[in-house]
Amino acid sequence: MAREDGAAVNARDRLVSPADEPDEKQLESALRPANLDEFVGQKRVRRQLSLVLEASRLRGRSADHVLLSGPPGLGKTTLAMIIAEEMGAPLRISSGPAIQHAGDLAAILSSLTEGEVLFLDEIHRMSRPAEEMLYMAMEDFRVDIVVGKGAGATSIPLDLPPFTLVGATTRAGLLPGPLRDRFGFTGHLEFYSVEELELVLRRSAGLMDLAMTAEGFTEVASRSRGTPRIANRLLRRVRDWALVHGIDRIDARTSSAALDMYEVDARGLDRLDRSVLEALVTKFGGGPVGLSTLAIAVGEETETVETVAEPYLVREGLLGRTPRGRIAMAAAWDHLGLAVPEHAAFQDPGLRAAFGAAASPAADEDAPPLFED
Ligand SMILES: Nc1ncnc2c1ncn2[C@@H]1O[C@H](COP(=O)(O)OP(=O)(O)OP(=O)(O)O)[C@@H](O)[C@H]1O
Ligand SMILES: [Mg+2]
Repeated sequence: MAREDGAAVNARDRLVSPADEPDEKQLESALRPANLDEFVGQKRVRRQLSLVLEASRLRGRSADHVLLSGPPGLGKTTLAMIIAEEMGAPLRISSGPAIQHAGDLAAILSSLTEGEVLFLDEIHRMSRPAEEMLYMAMEDFRVDIVVGKGAGATSIPLDLPPFTLVGATTRAGLLPGPLRDRFGFTGHLEFYSVEELELVLRRSAGLMDLAMTAEGFTEVASRSRGTPRIANRLLRRVRDWALVHGIDRIDARTSSAALDMYEVDARGLDRLDRSVLEALVTKFGGGPVGLSTLAIAVGEETETVETVAEPYLVREGLLGRTPRGRIAMAAAWDHLGLAVPEHAAFQDPGLRAAFGAAASPAADEDAPPLFED
């Protein structure tokens, strides 16, 4: 998947990347909410999930299988852990890419204990044979283990104890229908509002022993792209900045000075995002301009611009993808502090009509880009 790989390659030195960084795991786990009450936001999913868990407790049975989908950094892994915690059940963690053969999955399934929660991260990346084995395991709590090869191969049925599968995916659209159908509950995580991120930050600051004003939280939250992972990461940078400058109470000014220094602007755009936007507006008059031309103008790979910068710019309504190329939206000029010119491409009725279908924010990660140049 070019999109994912591209994002991963470029994620490293990006403060606003939604993907987790290799050395971030430990820091993150220290800030993970441990139960549903501590989990901020996602009201709908939280309410539905809490009902599913409560019902299973009342029935004295393991909970229905749960699928969690949504963009990176919104809390899928956290929720999986909370499910096990709330069920008072042990948690087994594996992931799609780790399960390349049906045998890998059989080994995990056959060692599960009753009521255990099995968390399969990136479940859309599991191999086909493993997936088929999982169908039966989910539905009938049974697997057929194949022994031997060729004509002499026999399959031995093996009963499994009841367990709860929690699958997580950033690309629900890539899951085959039969797999999706076998989940009793699907929770789709949405981007967080600034107010919700303030609550996430308030909690994290408490755990990190930071003194911070309400405006300080707002400042960090509004630069966090609707993503708790980014919010917590920015908070750590703000903490560093305050420490070095000998500031012990972090207010809006401290937060914004720190994040300005890290080149994360008021709307959460970093240097790459801004240079794409600036090129589009100043060099190309707001477009339309082809993706590859735009990429050359900012000195980046086409793929970097498309997979790293564009999704958020589109989501924020700053950039549009049209059949004739990329265009800047009115908000782009506003954001750069410039006046919107009279004949900008986004005002062109022809382009608008074609663009209408593509204009929806890219919140649905599964939707293919509608228009390519
Ligand atoms: N609702 C929330 N309340 C508080 N903190 C949260 C919430 N959601 C996520 N976080 C924090 O954000 C970090 C990232 O969350 P998590 O690892 O669960 O994301 P994810 O959806 O699994 O991402 P990925 O797709 O990359 O695996 C965690 O450290 C957690 O502390
Ligand atoms: Mg995760």
